[in-house]
Amino acid sequence: MPRKIAAGNWKMNGTSAALAELETLAGSSVPDGVDVLICPPTPLISRAAAIAGTVNIGGQDCHAKTSGAHTGDVSAEMLLDAGAGYVILGHSERRSDHAETDADVCAKTLATIAAGLIAVVCVGETLDERDTGETLQVVCGQLAASLPDNATGATCIVAYEPVWAIGTGKVPTLTQIGEVHDAMRTALVARFGDDGENFSLLYGGSVKASNAAEIFDVSNVDGALVGGASLKAADFVPIIAALAAS
Ligand code: PGA
Repeated sequence: MPRKIAAGNWKMNGTSAALAELETLAGSSVPDGVDVLICPPTPLISRAAAIAGTVNIGGQDCHAKTSGAHTGDVSAEMLLDAGAGYVILGHSERRSDHAETDADVCAKTLATIAAGLIAVVCVGETLDERDTGETLQVVCGQLAASLPDNATGATCIVAYEPVWAIGTGKVPTLTQIGEVHDAMRTALVARFGDDGENFSLLYGGSVKASNAAEIFDVSNVDGALVGGASLKAADFVPIIAALAAS
């Protein structure tokens, strides 16, 4: 069975003052059966981990190597050492801002698994790709090439994030979300057998309190990866509650 996961991606937002939001979140009890994850900017990880309580802390990217001459990068081991248990990999902003390829994401996922962290591997089509009917091909292609052969439902989570829905307020229809999530599940079972059923499949892109419940009712949606609405505890808590109720 996949775990239900409410994940927050703070992106490049927040200095120490933002830890007050995490403190509020940690103080509001996490419902049974839901894992809550917050991925703050790297400089906040160790302080976040110290106050997170039952909220899990993750990084937003890591390097594929364990150490070396890679100025500005952090390794999966460093994230683990700082108190993270998870790391987001292959977010579309990494793929576009840093030209990350599926092969890069796959190498990072391997490093993440080796370090003992859980990878949140992101995939998603652009608006052009959706308009030309390539969505399933693009998403399943990214999924196949971004997950290494040793990926398991215990070590990897998949987040479907249509690029055009991120930070735009635009959300695919529930039917469109269901089509992609069903296709991802089928592809995971075809590749990993019964364990393919155990990968949590998150939807991401303009999730907020007002649309979370209907998205969580879609088949094969096991949670959400939330950007803007994860920055304030008051916005994120109702999303967690909607997931618990789904
Ligand atoms: P958003 O971002 O919720 O602000 O659309 C989602 C994401 O990029 O993970």
